[in-house]
Amino acid sequence: MATSTTLAPEKSPTASGDRRDALSITDQRTGKSYEVPIADGTIRAMDLRQIKTDPADFGLMSYDPAYMNTASCKSRITYIDGDKGILRYRGYDIAQLAENCSYLEVAYLLLYGSLPNRQQHDEWVHNITYHTMIHESLKKLMDTFNYDAHPMGMLIATIAAMSTFYPDGRNIHDPVSRTKQTYRMIAKIPTLAAFAYRHSMGMPYVYPDNDLSYSENFLNMLFKMPAARGYRPNPALVKALDVLFILHADHEQNCGTAVMRSIGSAHADPYVAVAGAAAALYGPLHGGANEEVLKMLAEIGSVARVPAFIKEVKEGKGEKRLMGFGHRVYKNFDPRATIIKRMADEVFSVTGRNPLLDIALELERIALQDDYFVKRKLYPNVDFYSGLIYQAIQIPTAAFTVLFAIPRVSGWIAQWQELLQDPEQKIARPRQIYLGEGERAFVPMDKR
Ligand code: CMC
Repeated sequence: MATSTTLAPEKSPTASGDRRDALSITDQRTGKSYEVPIADGTIRAMDLRQIKTDPADFGLMSYDPAYMNTASCKSRITYIDGDKGILRYRGYDIAQLAENCSYLEVAYLLLYGSLPNRQQHDEWVHNITYHTMIHESLKKLMDTFNYDAHPMGMLIATIAAMSTFYPDGRNIHDPVSRTKQTYRMIAKIPTLAAFAYRHSMGMPYVYPDNDLSYSENFLNMLFKMPAARGYRPNPALVKALDVLFILHADHEQNCGTAVMRSIGSAHADPYVAVAGAAAALYGPLHGGANEEVLKMLAEIGSVARVPAFIKEVKEGKGEKRLMGFGHRVYKNFDPRATIIKRMADEVFSVTGRNPLLDIALELERIALQDDYFVKRKLYPNVDFYSGLIYQAIQIPTAAFTVLFAIPRVSGWIAQWQELLQDPEQKIARPRQIYLGEGERAFVPMDKR
């Protein structure tokens, strides 16, 4: 979605030396000139409304399908420079956070604006750990899904159902209540996700274990067999999962986050807002791409078939896409993909090499030399290599997007909290350009 605008005021003087942070507009329809202030590299769309052909005219609007160049909020959470491949949470470079922090530390950072000290950290982890259980009725609700229900469908439905279990979530203007819903949401999503997986496998649910870390507990709930004593997830895989959670935690105003803010702007409770955001994430052009990448690699089947597949993508002219490639904001490289690619080797040293890796590497090698992809600035994104790691950890392909949704919850909640505290925000309500019929006389059915 829209790229971050720089927050620093522009400094360079104009050619005439008369520097004003303003945009001069001459309306050629009327010959009138206007001056529109520029702040933070942006003009306010509402300032265009004064530009009218006559007093009865509604006034000028900007048209921006898919928000290609529209900032919908001011935010202090995540910064992206798509040309330089920079991603920062609250000012910290993503690579440093991935190297040095746990996911819960990063979730705290996103939500509260600074890294926790020891006491804040311990309290935060305690509060998340002690909210991981879900209501037994929610568990029963999960039982009603078909055995082959898609894990994202189950996750979205059960997150929305949480709204009915926690009606106090509607007290969105009460900061204490918001904090409580935040604990519940971040703590319970892995439980819901793991239960959805166990249900689809026909396996009994494994309850959360308060002695385990966030990621360790998730793997435990996924894979522990009731009969297996002393099961402990491999620490290298726990670490890899935690890093993947950090990389996916927030990404400023992407499609899912825009939905979160949009639903939140109507003052709905955070559970239904997160369910809506997760629904957007499910789409194959968004977080659903990680699942599509694996299907694509399996369809290609061998390194020898890569050139033919690339040819099909190019000749498909947008019909067939190289999944896991391209990004609305990153036009050079996706820093998350670089970290994941590096981490893949560590994971494969534990799990054994994923045979699809060679196909992925060849696909990347050829695409990065091919004019079609180079001209369009299409590079591997976060979803290109993450699925290979999930598969190596034994997570079924259909559950990949769930693994994206779990950590994104902290970003969604941080963005939601920011929205609710922003005095400039109102209910989200875009305009349209109406191109339909003018007024028509009603025709009774027997005359049509
Ligand atoms: N394979 C082949 N061609 C592509 C691809 C691709 N993956 N992505 C874009 N293009 C082409 C597209 O056909 C168009 O070509 P032309 O100019 O000839 O019409 C041009 O590149 C620009 O594409 P666009 O659709 O206008 O770009 P966008 O910024 O609207 O779309 C995107 C961004 C991520 C939706 C798109 O690149 C895509 O569909 N990628 C594949 C799906 C994917 O991997 N999504 C995960 C994104 S990262 C995770 C997340 O945050 O959601």
